[in-house]
Amino acid sequence: MDPETLEKDALAAVAAASSLDDIDRVRVEFLGRKSALKLALREVRDRETGMTLNALRERLETAIDARENDLRRVELDRQVSEERVDVTMPGTPFPRGHLHLITQIRREVEDIFLGLGYTVVDGREVETTHYNFDGLNFPQGHPTRSPLHTLFLDQQTVLRTETSPSQIRTMEAQEPPVYIVSLGRCYRRDTPDATHTPTFHQVEGLAVDEGISLADLEGTLDYLLKTLFGEERRTQFTTNYFPFTEPSIEARVSCHICDGSGCPVCRHSGWIEVGGAGMVDPNLFEFVGYDPERYTGFAFGWGLERIAVLRHGIPDLRELWRNDPRLLRQF
Ligand code: PHE
Repeated sequence: MDPETLEKDALAAVAAASSLDDIDRVRVEFLGRKSALKLALREVRDRETGMTLNALRERLETAIDARENDLRRVELDRQVSEERVDVTMPGTPFPRGHLHLITQIRREVEDIFLGLGYTVVDGREVETTHYNFDGLNFPQGHPTRSPLHTLFLDQQTVLRTETSPSQIRTMEAQEPPVYIVSLGRCYRRDTPDATHTPTFHQVEGLAVDEGISLADLEGTLDYLLKTLFGEERRTQFTTNYFPFTEPSIEARVSCHICDGSGCPVCRHSGWIEVGGAGMVDPNLFEFVGYDPERYTGFAFGWGLERIAVLRHGIPDLRELWRNDPRLLRQF
């Protein structure tokens, strides 16, 4: 190997390298483990040849490093000018969660009643049979008292089957006038189907004051229904029965899908039943120590899932508990 020729060849190759790949190849060819220079260095027996070859190696390394730096800069310049970043471009949207439809409706109903001057009170999901049944005037032997209908934790403790026990707890805790709503989960031993789930939500309303009449109840529910389902809805009240209201009524709203002409949602009747209500049975006032001669009141208890499926035409109530984001995202 002639060091001078080698140096000339190497420097020529360095000068000819026009990319980082090229310069890598040049480095391997002239300085790699199998390069002529490395092999020659290994064979060196005298000091002078060693110094000459080492000096050559250093010159080649310097030349290759310098060329590599140049090429890097060229590459960077190219990137900067060609791959310009537009900082004003919108980024990739990051999906954000939102409130569950039931929570939205819960807050909406709370807002409606806060606007009417009501207070929102909490109830208890675990209740005693006293508040869930006796205090609500359920007779002994009423079917709801059966463990076939109600989830018992022990003989006297149940998962509440409705939000109505909060009526009793509220009246025990304060004197009239009472204007409250109480919303939350309820539990019944129902087999899930398109219109039942064992866990569901209710809104309970209670108003007790002097001179409260059935007309006040109907006016309040009419306002609630129109706010939930649209100003142009008509409302109707039919009879019903609950142990804790007398008289008891069922609220109906003209179908918001077909506006009363008949469709599957209203089962071709033009009307949709939304939930129960009635005038507080005077027995309840006696239980809690209110004067039934002085005070009257109304109460209502509606399912939030029912409001949701009616309003959005969701064919199966169980969907609200499956929590499939493809469904929930739509609301
Ligand atoms: N608690 C009743 C139910 O679950 C609804 C209701 C509440 C009816 C208040 C009248 C008064 O069906």
